[in-house]
Amino acid sequence: MTLIHIQGLSKHFKILNRHEGLKGAVRDLFSGDYRTVQAVDGISLDIEPGEIVGYIGPNGAGKSTTIKMMTGILKPSAGVLQVNGLVPYDNRIRQAMIMGVVFGQRTQLWWDLPVIESFKILKEIYKVDQKMFDEHLGMFHELVGLKALYSQQARTLSLGQRMLCDITASFLHNPQVVFLDEPTIGLDVSIKAKIRSLILELNRTRNTTIILTTHDLGDVEALCRRIIIIDKGKILYDGDIKKVNALFGAYRTLKLQIKDYSEATLAALQDRLTGTFGAGHGITIAQTEDCWTDVTIDQARTPLADVLAFIMTNFTVEDVRIVEISMENVVRKIYDGALK
Ligand SMILES: Nc1ncnc2c1ncn2[C@@H]1O[C@H](COP(=O)(O)OP(=O)(O)OP(=O)(O)O)[C@@H](O)[C@H]1O
Ligand SMILES: [Mg+2]
Repeated sequence: MTLIHIQGLSKHFKILNRHEGLKGAVRDLFSGDYRTVQAVDGISLDIEPGEIVGYIGPNGAGKSTTIKMMTGILKPSAGVLQVNGLVPYDNRIRQAMIMGVVFGQRTQLWWDLPVIESFKILKEIYKVDQKMFDEHLGMFHELVGLKALYSQQARTLSLGQRMLCDITASFLHNPQVVFLDEPTIGLDVSIKAKIRSLILELNRTRNTTIILTTHDLGDVEALCRRIIIIDKGKILYDGDIKKVNALFGAYRTLKLQIKDYSEATLAALQDRLTGTFGAGHGITIAQTEDCWTDVTIDQARTPLADVLAFIMTNFTVEDVRIVEISMENVVRKIYDGALK
């Protein structure tokens, strides 16, 4: 049976256009001057038990809004949404028993309590028996070695430690589905790796369905076979990651700080790259914040090392960074027909 069924789901927010100052505030009371944000705009999807689905897209795409509807926090404006056959918003308590949720930006632990006390409260709320509780904490301890942190107040934990504890808490009642909204945001590489292996292990041993949103394409590549890409509230792609992998994997961006940069430098760079690598070089250049120049390279067409060597010999580069393609760029490439 399908675990999550969504058909034509939408959510819009009505936002008051606020005016400045005291006069403005008074005017706002009566103005009726609203605008509508279409956060989720007619999406349809089905998720089967045991899947790990990457739900990704640029900032403001509608990911968190979708998750808030799936978890029953927000009521949809239109469409069908069922989790395990029930409407989440109308069955919040029953649904809570089969769901876990982690919002990377916020904690569900009681801020001033030692972590273990939060776990005990959750144990009571979800009616987890002692044996299962001990087994669960034992398993997490084996996987990520958390025990030493249990006596610490949640507010004294580092971001990464807090996230591991939050994930522990979300799986405590052995839910059928866990929603992870940006679980690796702001974390370093080693904690990210721990979180990834934890998620994989839980999915493997308990068949827990995982819905993951992230801006880290590394998370997606490590965890998900299926991805759903959403932009402006609409689904752009839903399918096997393999097809889009080329899109993520082949592109790298060189971020350059070029000495004595001017508009003319950008034009010169453009001309000389075309002169050297030919017309179909697959290199795009953009000026970004302050004095950084982004050179995005399709490695299937031109090797990154060649471009870097060329730039280093022909321009005076003060600083350079190599970054993976951003979510915004992936989406732009899909609009440009990259998946056709
Ligand atoms: N409570 C709200 N009231 C008004 N507008 C909202 C509300 N929540 C979200 N929005 C708007 O809905 C749109 C989608 O927001 P959402 O948080 O779902 O995006 P997201 O894909 O999670 O983005 P991010 O990657 O930045 O977390 C945005 O334009 C946002 O400003
Ligand atoms: Mg979000």
